[in-house]
Amino acid sequence: MQHDTILILDFGSQVTQLIARRVRETQVYCEVHPCDVSDAWLQEQARGGHLKGVILSGSHASTTQESTDRAPAAVFTLGVPVLGICYGMQTMAQQLGGTVQASGQREFGYAEVRARGHTALLRDIADFTTADGHGMLKVWMSHGDKVTQLPPGFKLMASTASCPIAGMADEERHFYAVQFHPEVTHTLQGKAMLERFVLGICGARADWEMRNHVAEAVEKIRLQVGSRQVLLGLSGGVDSSVAAALIHRAIGEQLTCVFVDHGLLRLNEGDMVMEMFAGKLHAKVVRVDASDLFLSELAGINEPEQKRKTIGRLFVDVFKAEAQELKSAGGGNAISFLAQGTIYPDVIESGASKSSKKAVTIKSHHNVGGLPEQLGLELLEPLRDLFKDEVRALGIALGLPPEMVYRHPFPGPGLGVRILGEVKKEYADLLRRADAIFIEELRGCIDEKSGKSWYDLTSQAFAVFLPVKSVGVMGDGRTYDYVVALRAVQTSDFMTADWAELPYSLLKKVSSRIINEIRGINRVTYDVSSKPPATIEWE
Ligand code: XMP
Repeated sequence: MQHDTILILDFGSQVTQLIARRVRETQVYCEVHPCDVSDAWLQEQARGGHLKGVILSGSHASTTQESTDRAPAAVFTLGVPVLGICYGMQTMAQQLGGTVQASGQREFGYAEVRARGHTALLRDIADFTTADGHGMLKVWMSHGDKVTQLPPGFKLMASTASCPIAGMADEERHFYAVQFHPEVTHTLQGKAMLERFVLGICGARADWEMRNHVAEAVEKIRLQVGSRQVLLGLSGGVDSSVAAALIHRAIGEQLTCVFVDHGLLRLNEGDMVMEMFAGKLHAKVVRVDASDLFLSELAGINEPEQKRKTIGRLFVDVFKAEAQELKSAGGGNAISFLAQGTIYPDVIESGASKSSKKAVTIKSHHNVGGLPEQLGLELLEPLRDLFKDEVRALGIALGLPPEMVYRHPFPGPGLGVRILGEVKKEYADLLRRADAIFIEELRGCIDEKSGKSWYDLTSQAFAVFLPVKSVGVMGDGRTYDYVVALRAVQTSDFMTADWAELPYSLLKKVSSRIINEIRGINRVTYDVSSKPPATIEWE
């Protein structure tokens, strides 16, 4: 099925993905591509009539100084509506004959914009009206350069005192542009504006819905796989779980899941994964208990990156050995595909044009790149088009329990990066129990104001094992035991995060339970560091 599509060309703004998520929230399918796609590629996309509009994103760069990135000329000749945002507006102005001027002063933050001219984009959209009847919008601005002269055919659509051309439109060609950012929630009517553009101006059909997506995705998997066999590495995380449930729905017995237990999972996690997939879904799951191997190889390693690399390498080795065994055991029914829970943010080629792409690695995240080639398997990635919230909605539509689908993320190296320094079984066992108490209490503690549990009010929460001993007193005796730190953060993107202001009563209960119930821990601390400068994990 071909969905109506909105194309988002990325000039490298930090928030380009937000544009895509806002568009998807209107139930319209969209894709993000680098801004330097070719004219020929664009024309190919437009063939068949499913391309309904183009959005030009913002950028961290300036059109007059650092960046020479421009929209492909074909954007303006395809005959579909175009929306320029921030840098996208400036490049539109420049490319269509207007003027952009550098400004020494950056405007950053909240602004009130007067909406002029009653264009189709902003008609009847306002946060308030001034005494003399002008519609006003509360928006988020972040720019240095600005458009100083409208391109021919354009009229003024919005303005502020410091930015007289804050929006422009050529309604004949359906070109619209705004200097502010409708994709961020600080722009109160941002969602309404994007919805207006996508549904009203582009006339895109709102048919991107996860409930309906199940049938479509199942069909696609069946078509790709045919009667062949698929192997999937199940981790217990949301992505691999939803991928497994979806593929199982599509091809049942042709799917084999391999679940590698590295001994660094949370309390009872292995059993829960088996119960769900082998028990409830009746999927074929091979559980490989490799905890002894992982623990023995990790002995003596203290450095976080070295621990990550060791865990990543062993994980691949164990998985590969199991895959090869299954492959050769299959005989005529040999496995042909390796399924992975890759999701859309992993796929998007972000960072403006390919040539100016920059990437910074702070921690080496372990993933299983290169495996399909080594195993001689084709890749099957049924979640490639989906954002995380869509993966969750799909999981629910497939009947997975909400506790699994809305579970906090858990890093690939597991407790390996939550035990500081050398990993030992004794430490992992203590940490697992402390972590389970913390999570149980978070789930059980309901915030009166929102009616939600503190588990749902936090984005990630866990316990960290500190291999230092401190003195305590228990009954009549002195103790000399380990310390556990609790970490709970709130974040929307995991790039930055605030420590969660958990109620004292909750912290008190968790601390008292951990110290009383777990022999070997006599002190609990709460981590009050935000990211940056701290990271979410301690290693
Ligand atoms: P940091 O600690 O970098 O964490 O602020 C940001 C998010 O990434 C997760 N994380 C990892 N996930 N392998 C993973 O699969 C890793 O090595 C890893 N390190 C951090 C972390 O749990 C948080 O959600």
